[in-house]
Amino acid sequence: MPDDIHAPLLDDLARRRGVVMLLGAHDTGKTTFARRLLAAALAAGKTVAYVDADTDQKTCGPPTCTGMKLVRTQADLEDLSNADRLHFVGSIAAEGVVLQQVVATAALVDAARLEADLTVVDTTGTVSGVIGQTLKYHTMELVRPDVVIGLQRGAELEPVIGMLRRFFSADVETAPVDPDVLPASPDSRRTHRAKKLAAAFAEPLQRWRVRETVFAPTLPAGLDQAKLSGVLVGLQDGEGLCLGLGVLDHSDNALRVVTNSGDDMRGLRLGSVTMDLATFDLQRFRLRDLMFGI
Ligand SMILES: Nc1ncnc2c1ncn2[C@@H]1O[C@H](COP(=O)(O)OP(=O)(O)O)[C@@H](O)[C@H]1O
Ligand SMILES: [Mg+2]
Repeated sequence: MPDDIHAPLLDDLARRRGVVMLLGAHDTGKTTFARRLLAAALAAGKTVAYVDADTDQKTCGPPTCTGMKLVRTQADLEDLSNADRLHFVGSIAAEGVVLQQVVATAALVDAARLEADLTVVDTTGTVSGVIGQTLKYHTMELVRPDVVIGLQRGAELEPVIGMLRRFFSADVETAPVDPDVLPASPDSRRTHRAKKLAAAFAEPLQRWRVRETVFAPTLPAGLDQAKLSGVLVGLQDGEGLCLGLGVLDHSDNALRVVTNSGDDMRGLRLGSVTMDLATFDLQRFRLRDLMFGI
């Protein structure tokens, strides 16, 4: 095998316009491929955009969000972690948030399309099973990519690729995973996630008192607010964008949000995880269970 197995494909894609969506399981080289494609298209004089729809192992923006970055210069390319726009999804796994995930990805691609010649969409590693296929089907439906590149080991993507080819007209291609790619351990994934969450909760943190009417979804009357302690929230600007993350805290009979992004917040979206501010560990949180019986 030649040393750089993706060079001809990258060369071809960098000449195109529109939206390229990358598919692949965890650690198949999607993000590396995205960076190389952004660099090649930038070198060809294009304005490019990166949409990071992987809500777990983030490149652009914090975990639980999708992020978008316009890349006009080499400096932008080296600063992908600093998103221009964020959408809140509220979880790092697709289960239970397929709708939020699809909308958060499509909204950023729509924004990117307006300004970029080429938009590169990096996606989550959930590519199989009912959830993975439902996620990819509806992402495809709203994102409407011109080209889909599936990076696969063996034939692992064949079911989802076959489905996308049947139901959509985009050019869907596959490429092998570079044999040098080493799968990350669960530990290193956790460390990467915690580092990104720590960056999203960098000092100075403020504690804003919040009224019970500012939430989406709306809190039911009579809810014991203490049960919301630790829940991760997205701070919304009133125009659909997420300003940053916060964690709810209930103490001294008052509900507060701990955040460094509260200045222009108009409302709080409830996430589907709780977060420990000391360790940045995330735990699944089911709003529906909490509201049950009220
Ligand atoms: N072509 C390649 N050659 C060598 N290492 C690679 C290559 N592509 C990716 N890697 C490494 O493999 C790991 C996973 O790649 P990454 O692009 O993050 O995958 P994904 O985004 O699909 O999870 C990273 O540590 C990355 O540096
Ligand atoms: Mg990645």
